Amino acid sequence: MQLNLILDYIEYSAEIKMANSIITNGLLFTEERLDELIAHGLDSITVSRDTLKGNYFDKAAELKGKASKKLLMLCLDRNLRDLEVSMAISKDNIEEIPEMVRQNTSVGIWTSFDPLHWSKGQPESKCPPFKDVESAIVKPGDEEVIRNVMTELLDMKKAGYLIHPSRKVLEMWMQPENIFKHNWKCFTSWLTIEADGTVYGCDDYQPPEFKGRYNITDFDLETFKDFREEWNFAIKKCPGCFWSTHVMSCEMLKEPTGGNYFRHEVTGC
Ligand SMILES: C[S@@+](CC[C@H](N)C(=O)[O-])C[C@H]1O[C@@H](n2cnc3c(N)ncnc32)[C@H](O)[C@@H]1O
Ligand code: SF4
Repeated sequence: MQLNLILDYIEYSAEIKMANSIITNGLLFTEERLDELIAHGLDSITVSRDTLKGNYFDKAAELKGKASKKLLMLCLDRNLRDLEVSMAISKDNIEEIPEMVRQNTSVGIWTSFDPLHWSKGQPESKCPPFKDVESAIVKPGDEEVIRNVMTELLDMKKAGYLIHPSRKVLEMWMQPENIFKHNWKCFTSWLTIEADGTVYGCDDYQPPEFKGRYNITDFDLETFKDFREEWNFAIKKCPGCFWSTHVMSCEMLKEPTGGNYFRHEVTGC
């Protein structure tokens, strides 16, 4: 998306007192750009960072790893509402999660993580094909390591460490089909708005019949009801996922104060 548009969106959300956040691997960030975004009202950043050890997958991952570290250092010097690290979990870094959480928490940074996802052929999936991640993903045989790590994280979460995935999500990691098959299914949507204004209910499943059908510029309560009805029908065809934010969105839609958890206003859930 063009930088001007991002600045406009951030400024508008700040004006109407809506929480905003950017997810980035830091590659295109400079100190000047960060300050410009903050001056326009940016109040939260999530930085993709997979490892503390520097055992990078390839050259591109190494560049992203260095960029993410640099951006985090810059963010720590600024007064952001919150700062989070997001990890994509493979068999190479799963045992690093507790140490990543300890180091992040010690400087006030939250940690989030998802198992490495692959595309199951669903329309507009942002994930790589299975063959590209096959050798890296956790798979049958890794149950013990998963159980040990998640048990430690559940204890850490109880003790107040800044772990974003909810207790329920950590417990779901211990049910192998969620991790090996990613076949959790959402029951309803939030809104995902593309740069052209098209509204979908998800970023990783976007059926072609929705392209251009609903646009945020002419969305009102009636349109929203129609959208939601069609979307709740369309998602039945999605093969499923295990994105922690998506699982939590569904769970928290059931709770009147669910949004507070997303804004890191409550801990321990
Ligand atoms: C979908 S990405 C998009 C944000 C941005 N383009 C970036 O690379 O940071 C959001 C988060 O998902 C994680 N991620 C990216 N690809 C993934 C994959 N195939 N499986 C699981 N997590 C992934 C990254 O940790 C990233 O922070
Ligand atoms: S199950 Fe739901 S949240 Fe997950 S990818 Fe499909 S539509 Fe998106």
